[in-house]
Amino acid sequence: MDMTIRPRRLRTSAKLRKMVRETRMDKSSLVYPMFVMDGENKKEEIPTMPGQFRYTLDRMPEALNELADAGVGSVMLFGIPEHKDEVGSGAYACDGIIQRALEKAKKEVPDLYYIGDVCMCEYTSHGHCGILKGEYVDNDLTLEKLAQIAVSQVQAGADMVAPSDMMDGHIRAIREGLDKNGFVTTPIMSYAVKYASAFYGPFRDAAGSAPAFGDRKSYQMDYHNRREGIKEAMLDIDEGADIIMVKPAMSYLDMVREIKDLTDVPMAAYSVSGEYAMVKAAAKLGYVDEAAILCEMAACAYRAGVDIYMSYYAKEIAHFMDEGRIG
Ligand code: PBG
Repeated sequence: MDMTIRPRRLRTSAKLRKMVRETRMDKSSLVYPMFVMDGENKKEEIPTMPGQFRYTLDRMPEALNELADAGVGSVMLFGIPEHKDEVGSGAYACDGIIQRALEKAKKEVPDLYYIGDVCMCEYTSHGHCGILKGEYVDNDLTLEKLAQIAVSQVQAGADMVAPSDMMDGHIRAIREGLDKNGFVTTPIMSYAVKYASAFYGPFRDAAGSAPAFGDRKSYQMDYHNRREGIKEAMLDIDEGADIIMVKPAMSYLDMVREIKDLTDVPMAAYSVSGEYAMVKAAAKLGYVDEAAILCEMAACAYRAGVDIYMSYYAKEIAHFMDEGRIG
């Protein structure tokens, strides 16, 4: 056999495999999505996301401390308001659930980096991500509100804002709003490449944010489309987005790689509720090995090009990075 190149040579021992690993990951790039709500002394398990909870503000710091201790870099907070209305006023109220959560989190667990999700669907009675005109989400009316939400979150203490609304022109509107209020150094991570996805189902149960009628297909993207995702990313970068996110993660890593190769901004991907729920359910049935699967999902996202990984498994991933199992 005349074979000088033998790829298996570099796979002969665990030490060597680790030495030549092409993907290196770091805990500081992990983001944990977390739900907060009004009330007292409650840590409510989300039925469709076993192991994930909605926390009242008095119980929130204990969860944040666990994340900080695990070395997770950042937390994205989602507020579940007590009252919803047509115009989602709870989203930009200075004493809204998310604003109070950010303020308290910053004060009590200052080691974490806090990101505010900027959207209206958790706060509107109809569950859509913006202001309605008839049954259509009015783009330009919504922009004003988005800027208000972002400003109110940063005033409350958010280190970064992440608009997930999918309105046209949202980054420009938010950037202008932030700058006008003196927050020129606050970065925007845009959920620029966000698809209309059934993978968000469990999140909508958790946040009570399923649309009361219709769907989100007039603003979130059709999952058949690739060029459209690139266009969204480019537009948001032009408008001033500092970081671009692709969402969901697992079935959409082609978009991560492609946009990574085309641009020079940091890339994020959000492994969403449905991805988590599928792994949990299959693991519970004994069909898959949960730890092995969550490690593989995370490492593959980084291999595809993510710099920032959002996952409900952030704490577990941090643990497996510590053990050297991945990264
Ligand atoms: C708000 C928002 C959603 C998610 C994150 N931000 C729901 C949606 O767009 O319907 C989903 C996250 C997840 O499924 O984990 N617009």
